[in-house]
Amino acid sequence: MKISGPLVKALNNQIAMEANAANAYLSAASWCDITGYDGAAKFFHSQAQEEHQHMLKFVNFVNGQCLGAIIPGVKQPPKTYKSLESICKTALSNEQAVTKSINHMVDLAQKDKDHNTITFLQYFVNEQIEEEQQFEDILQKFNLIGRDKLAIYEIDKLLGGLANTPASDVQN
Ligand SMILES: [Fe+2]
Ligand SMILES: [Fe+2]
Repeated sequence: MKISGPLVKALNNQIAMEANAANAYLSAASWCDITGYDGAAKFFHSQAQEEHQHMLKFVNFVNGQCLGAIIPGVKQPPKTYKSLESICKTALSNEQAVTKSINHMVDLAQKDKDHNTITFLQYFVNEQIEEEQQFEDILQKFNLIGRDKLAIYEIDKLLGGLANTPASDVQN
């Protein structure tokens, strides 16, 4: 089935969103690295890789429908950050924007009765639930453990433990 014009546009826009997410996490990882937050650096690097894999999934899906995927230009993310907590707050609101964008595509695909695209998007619907939950949990830790140096040290360690190898995410 041919994907409708508005949905093709939305899918290409999603490629750019995932690329920007990868870049934003890479920038956060880089800042954490030079600031001495080793655990958080590891975590944000793994997030960046995950977002890169998301981007590839969209590229492959669009190309698989014989539509040329549009590879976006690089948008420069922030160079410095106020705190680890502010990075996580921004990450949560970026993830919420991605969720909105995914849901919008599901709406379009449902309107088109495009079951192939709906099935493809299902992975991302589930992924976004996990992503939002993860950052909500992390942000809660600042309230529970605190924001002094020792608390941040603990949260940094905790973030290091959350870093995953995105290999399992590569396929599909
Ligand atoms: Fe993503
Ligand atoms: Fe994400």
